[in-house]
Amino acid sequence: MPGRFVTFEGGEGGGKSTNLRMLATALEAAGETVIVTREPGGSEGAEQVRRLLVEGATDRWDAVSEALLHYAARRDHVERLISPALDRGDWVVCDRFADSTMAYQGYGHGLGREPIETLHGLAIGGLKPDLTLILDLPVETGLTRAGSRGGDETRYERMADGFHQRLRDGFLDIAAREPGRCVVIDATQEIDAVQQEVRRAVTDRLGVGLP
Ligand code: TMP
Repeated sequence: MPGRFVTFEGGEGGGKSTNLRMLATALEAAGETVIVTREPGGSEGAEQVRRLLVEGATDRWDAVSEALLHYAARRDHVERLISPALDRGDWVVCDRFADSTMAYQGYGHGLGREPIETLHGLAIGGLKPDLTLILDLPVETGLTRAGSRGGDETRYERMADGFHQRLRDGFLDIAAREPGRCVVIDATQEIDAVQQEVRRAVTDRLGVGLP
């Protein structure tokens, strides 16, 4: 596909959304057309599914139903927004994508890698990001930061510490398996230092000139 697909990943409270917006602004200043989007969500149907996933009791879904819902939302998002944008040659910068299902449902809930890979192939085929930035930080720090945001979308934040530790380790394992696609960034740094590393990764890996 002619466009560029960049995803931000990591546990709770790593500053993904802020860094993603800063990167999008820099790319636009460099003359690129950028679609900023998120998961779960990003299309009308997927945003409706999002509410089923991020609100309510922690045990309202079992792990399999949860993975299926994330992939139902993702397929709609890919079909309606991501693939058309990449076909046009735009940049797509997405707050979370398939690595979140692998980390949260595969590692966190213990479904394992293979069922998630199978589901991925069924739902969206071979689509993968060109670059994935994993904002990594200790679970406690991230949950404290996320907790100060408030709001209704706290279903995952309320899950047990062990779950969050497993998904953090999961993201690091994903990065170790795919070093050509993934870059791990220490998200305990000041925001400007994190953003510096984000831009360096985009410049080095995707060959676009950014300040
Ligand atoms: P957000 O808070 O980053 O918008 O993401 C919503 C929550 O959904 C977050 O706690 C991570 C979780 N999630 C999954 O468990 N699996 C997924 O595939 C995605 C995209 C998100």
